[in-house]
Amino acid sequence: MKLVVRNDDRAVAALTARLIADLLKARPDCVLGLATGRTMERVYDALVEISRAEALDFSGCRTFNLDEYIGLPPGSAHSYRTYMNDRLFSRINIPIGNTMLPDGSATDLAAEAARYEDAIRRAGGIDLQLVGIGETGHIGFNEPLSPFTSRTRDITLAPGTRRQNAALFDDDIDAVPRRALTMGVGTILEARRVVLVATGSAKADILAQAVEGPVTPMVSATALHFHPDSLAIIDEDAARHLK
Ligand code: F6R
Repeated sequence: MKLVVRNDDRAVAALTARLIADLLKARPDCVLGLATGRTMERVYDALVEISRAEALDFSGCRTFNLDEYIGLPPGSAHSYRTYMNDRLFSRINIPIGNTMLPDGSATDLAAEAARYEDAIRRAGGIDLQLVGIGETGHIGFNEPLSPFTSRTRDITLAPGTRRQNAALFDDDIDAVPRRALTMGVGTILEARRVVLVATGSAKADILAQAVEGPVTPMVSATALHFHPDSLAIIDEDAARHLK
């Protein structure tokens, strides 16, 4: 895993957005793997800024998000579909039909997971997968002990993840769903490039484990050490506990 440390979250977002913009210019039909969460808010703001300044053309691009909550009502303000529509898709010229997330309202979750894997495969695989890191070490929602070979499936969220994400549910932990559909670690490792983005001191401990600790399914992000082209872009606060 390569590591780039920037001064602050703005610089991290700017560099991450630049990588995506450069890929899109080189390959207008690229397949992007996207993530949600607070870290990515700045990344998408920076990407929209570049898109406007440089007239990026997303019309030929397709996207697959890492994950979606299970059990939220359709159109919920808290769904990752709503997050993506609001923060990115409605602000760039991507056809909404080119944007894919797992369907957390599917009645047959195993069939939905298989359908999602198949859709990624039929798109030719993911060129660049963005991932954040949770305080449990998850990438996507692959909580501790997720096998490195795991595929898209439904998973029970760790209590720490629900606490971390309560901020996006008006601090009401009971409102945070208990389950989600997520790409597996194995799915993520098949992307041709994986870019992990982490900012802020709350991530310093887990980031040190991800970058310097032993490779273990207890910290899913350590699987990225097996990837031939993985890059972590972090700020100085998140880098604080690196040796
Ligand atoms: C989101 C996702 C998660 C987040 C991670 C960090 O789609 O898959 O792995 O990237 O929980 O979240 P934030 O950025 O809110 O700290």
